[in-house]
Amino acid sequence: MSIQWFPGHMNSARRKAAESMEKVDLVIEVLDARIPLASSNPMIESLRRARQRPCLKVLNKSDLADPAATKEWLAYFGKQPNVHAIAITTKKPAEVAKVPAQCLKIAPHRGTPLKPLRVMIMGIPNVGKSTLMNALLKKRVAKVGDEPAVTKTQQRLYLGTNIVLIDTPGLMWPKIEHPTDGLMLAASHAIGVNAIIEEEVATFLAGQLLERYPDLLKARYGVATADMDSVGLVEAIAQRRGYRLKGGDVDFEKATHTLLQDYRSGALGRISLETPDSRVALLASYVLPPSLGEPQPQPEVEED
Ligand code: G4P
Repeated sequence: MSIQWFPGHMNSARRKAAESMEKVDLVIEVLDARIPLASSNPMIESLRRARQRPCLKVLNKSDLADPAATKEWLAYFGKQPNVHAIAITTKKPAEVAKVPAQCLKIAPHRGTPLKPLRVMIMGIPNVGKSTLMNALLKKRVAKVGDEPAVTKTQQRLYLGTNIVLIDTPGLMWPKIEHPTDGLMLAASHAIGVNAIIEEEVATFLAGQLLERYPDLLKARYGVATADMDSVGLVEAIAQRRGYRLKGGDVDFEKATHTLLQDYRSGALGRISLETPDSRVALLASYVLPPSLGEPQPQPEVEED
């Protein structure tokens, strides 16, 4: 399985984003704090670099992420030229309020009623762009949902008198370069449920959790994780929870749902699936299981 997801409307979204980029002073790229690089879109980065626009990386959903990993990511992005980074959760108004303050600091030449700071909010689906806009504007301006790509049209909204927000449709890239990014995106629900093979995603997640958060697994499921592999973990969850099929075998599928749901909701604890260092190691070492390595026919992409 190679995870591909590039609906036709995303081509036009890219065109519109490129046009809008000319008219903005600052780009906010919303990322999922649990997977900041896996959830970043190289297309956004190349568009903004081409136009030399500064970027504020907003590591959202930091309430779900491991605080130590988030600290490492802030330092990582802070070293990049023309890039600033903050970690927030849209669930806390005080953290949301840091966003406009930070924007005005980055582009002090604008931010008056006469010359409002023009800000574009970008990011892949489901990282929390609509929720952030709603929280910034203190009203519901866009449909928010857990199904990816709910935000479809571009909007232009005033935040007070000094900042204009431009929202763009969620953007994904035509090909996810690293299979592990596809798996992390699917585990974190940035890729729709139809586009993934959930068991394989859960097995990948199990492997990452065994390596990085064995104590959280022990605390949640009461399993001894030493020497356990990822399939063994999912089976152990099924055993502990009493998930059985009619014939008496363990219900592996039900346990995969539990594991994914517990990670996505934060019930397992605050987890980051990558740090700057672990990402480098994972990309160097991950070997695709044969079932994930088979080439898949590419979807037809229609320009609209
Ligand atoms: P998008 O525009 O980028 O596509 O994302 P959207 O705002 O629709 O948010 C996607 C999901 O992420 C929503 O969940 C939203 O509530 C959740 N979310 C956004 N920001 C945060 C955050 O800081 N922390 C956490 N934990 N979740 C966040 P949902 O399940 O559709 O809705 P809900 O039941 O959570 O309201």
